[in-house]
Amino acid sequence: MRRTQVAIVGAGPAGLLLGQLLYKEGIETILLERRSAEYVSGRIRAGVLEPGTVNVLERAGVASRLHAEGLLHEGVEIGFRGRRHRINLKALTGKSVTVYGQTEVTRDLMDARAAAGAPSVYEAEDVALHDIAGPSPRVTYRHRGVGHEVACDFVAGCDGFHGISRRSIPAAALSVYERVYPFGWLGVLADFPPPWEELIYANSEHGFALASMRSPTRVRCYLQCSLEDRIGQWSDERFWTEFGRRLGSEIGARVPSTPIAPSIEKSIAPLRSFVAEPLRFGRLFLAGDAAHIVPPTGAKGLNLAVSDVFYLSEALRNFYREPPGDRAESALDAYSARALRRIWHAERFSWWMTRQLHRFPGDAFDERLQHAELEHLFESRAAQASMAENYVGLAL
Ligand code: PHB
Repeated sequence: MRRTQVAIVGAGPAGLLLGQLLYKEGIETILLERRSAEYVSGRIRAGVLEPGTVNVLERAGVASRLHAEGLLHEGVEIGFRGRRHRINLKALTGKSVTVYGQTEVTRDLMDARAAAGAPSVYEAEDVALHDIAGPSPRVTYRHRGVGHEVACDFVAGCDGFHGISRRSIPAAALSVYERVYPFGWLGVLADFPPPWEELIYANSEHGFALASMRSPTRVRCYLQCSLEDRIGQWSDERFWTEFGRRLGSEIGARVPSTPIAPSIEKSIAPLRSFVAEPLRFGRLFLAGDAAHIVPPTGAKGLNLAVSDVFYLSEALRNFYREPPGDRAESALDAYSARALRRIWHAERFSWWMTRQLHRFPGDAFDERLQHAELEHLFESRAAQASMAENYVGLAL
């Protein structure tokens, strides 16, 4: 049996970043991941980093490529009724966001962990948590057909919404809050220079659309779609025709014709708001998507995972700082409430963005309220400041 201080389950950005922050504090970890390293680093996710997230990545020592290649954006645009309205993030908050793909953040963290020589086990099967309610938890798994066991002080559950960590907590010890939305997002990645300077979130009568980017030569775009839609129904041509219809002819005309820039990834994702409370059960801590999901409209998923693990790394640092006989759990006790406060603010904002920008089936009263809300946003500097403060991220 092997021993470590913190066993981290899940090697997405939450698990990898926690490992890196703890490594900087001299705290030992092992990282267990069900998938292969290639699968993890190939996943396409969102790409907008709050300045607070960039700060944490700097502290972790993984921000040099981000600073070299990330794109600083001082505003975002909202399209509505054939016009585009700019929210000037920089003027309203003094801050900008950085466009840099989660895929790249993950790759930088994987490189840093490899350079640190910290142990990672990819393709770990049947990961199971044991004795998490008591002081001596254990994690078991199989790797290449051989059973392994790790004894540890704490387990960090960073294994996402479908992972085993949250499911290892007795149902009676968790409260779950959830909202599912009656549509999905169809995303396309394609290689051509973005013909828009900043992100454009569009509320159109045909549904929501988002024009985003990953680099000076790569775009990422989304369309609100039906939950019944299948990828096969969406040829590139259909996607870009619909995109132009929703974003307006000015933007639509700038998209190169399909054969020049075929899509390199296309996927459909459902939208969900979800929070499980509290984030601690005995010696297990949840962080990132294992504990909460936001719809992607506010670009908060990765940023929340980063603030969770930042808080958790501070709590663990404070615990281990004391000599073994004197260790108090007060910082560890405070982790859940501290993280949940920020999580609920991001949940509210992501719900609000989703609510204002999509077409919801049915209710004409709700639709009128949505239009009034958007008009107010375009006319009120105070409303824009509120949106901008949340978009660049609340204080960590
Ligand atoms: C993305 O570029 O993938 C992206 C950007 C902003 C969002 C969601 C996704 O709100």
